[in-house]
Amino acid sequence: MTLTSDNPITLCMPARVLCADGARRRIAPLCKSLGWRRALVVTDRWFTDNSPALSELLQSLHEHEIEVRVFDGGEPDPSTTLTDRATAWVREEGAMPDHLIAWGGGSNIDLAKALSVTVPCGRPVAELVGHTHWPQSPLPLVAVPTTAGTGSEITPGAILVQPGSATKVALMANVLRPAVAVIDPELTWSCPPRVTADAGLDALTHAIESWLTLDACTFDIAGDADPGYSGRNELTVMFARKATALAFQHLTTAFEHPQDRAARNGMARSSLYAAMSYATAGLNAVHGLAYALAGLTHASHGSTNAVMLPYVMDALVDSRCDELADIARLAGAPEADQETLARQAPVLTRALVRRLGLASDLVTFGVTEDQLHRLVTDGLSVTRLAKAWPGAPANEAYASIVSNAYLGKLSGEKG
Ligand SMILES: NC(=O)c1ccc[n+]([C@@H]2O[C@H](COP(=O)([O-])OP(=O)(O)OC[C@H]3O[C@@H](n4cnc5c(N)ncnc54)[C@H](O)[C@@H]3O)[C@@H](O)[C@H]2O)c1
Repeated sequence: MTLTSDNPITLCMPARVLCADGARRRIAPLCKSLGWRRALVVTDRWFTDNSPALSELLQSLHEHEIEVRVFDGGEPDPSTTLTDRATAWVREEGAMPDHLIAWGGGSNIDLAKALSVTVPCGRPVAELVGHTHWPQSPLPLVAVPTTAGTGSEITPGAILVQPGSATKVALMANVLRPAVAVIDPELTWSCPPRVTADAGLDALTHAIESWLTLDACTFDIAGDADPGYSGRNELTVMFARKATALAFQHLTTAFEHPQDRAARNGMARSSLYAAMSYATAGLNAVHGLAYALAGLTHASHGSTNAVMLPYVMDALVDSRCDELADIARLAGAPEADQETLARQAPVLTRALVRRLGLASDLVTFGVTEDQLHRLVTDGLSVTRLAKAWPGAPANEAYASIVSNAYLGKLSGEKG
């Protein structure tokens, strides 16, 4: 890794990050000490029906004299339609909240982020996408992830499905970063293996993709004085490397032994550190193509990232050889020369994807040959990600990545 001293360091984060088993018990006293009195809890029915930890939170808020309303209509991959419906419900029922608490996976956190903007102004969310200043400041948000993967509790974005659009749309601005991120690994113990695998591979993707992305000194911030994403720097790379190591060390155990405290804790930290990297450095082709693939197949976010990740890594062997060699070592590769190691990194990453039972090529994913061109063009249409591609011209690279992902072809594969 050859970042030079003229590579600027930026780190954008929530104001407070708490990470510990049991950290959820600090939420109510903290909200009270911050002067907040009316909470809107945003979650989904699984939690209101099954989660004693959520019941304890509601009780604890009550004991701290904080009024609570609960919106439990969250859905996987929230849409602009759901956001508008929830906004109307909140504005019609009761007093205006003075803060939100998002409880759930990335989907509920993204819905809450969007509501933090739409509830004060009452405007349809589609009208607010693409802007970084909104009619009123977003309400403060406490984000409590129950999966270990998305890092939405750290990022400046709310990712929404927009009916009729080929890829997801994003509300994106630094003011959208939660005020408080509360990462309590115990909340992930109830994740079914499929959710653990999807989220865990999302975390690994964030770590690796942001580790390999453009340097801050070459990243195009388009004159933005307060960009959400601004390229990799020494600090983001430090977090990315640690996150990668933790994911290779703990993800398989968390998947196979859901009650393993050390593995759940390791994955919670992997997800957090990956977010601390990518939520400043930004992402590129894996997410660009994964959004296109999700538009085509409606498959889960983690699975669409997982199938693209090894082929994107393979496309960067020339421009990111040392980083990929380091990743291969973290994944357990035996010592070899740098290039051999670099070519092993995608192979070992794909082996992990397979071990977790996810599709590792586009044919197995159910994509047909006549859909490949559309995948490339839809992927390239997410320009904020395509312009951060650190290798050969993005249009050629995306086409070759998609073709290799269809054929299941990696340069380091024996035979
Ligand atoms: N804003 C961002 O920066 C960002 C980044 C990455 C992903 N995302 C978004 O996050 C979403 C994916 O989030 P996710 O992978 O966390 O899954 P999810 O939030 O969609 O949840 C998947 C399912 O798992 C259930 N679940 C969650 N936690 C559970 C638990 N502890 N026990 C039992 N069930 C549980 C949920 O109820 C849901 O049914 C996608 O919509 C994606 O676009 C956002």
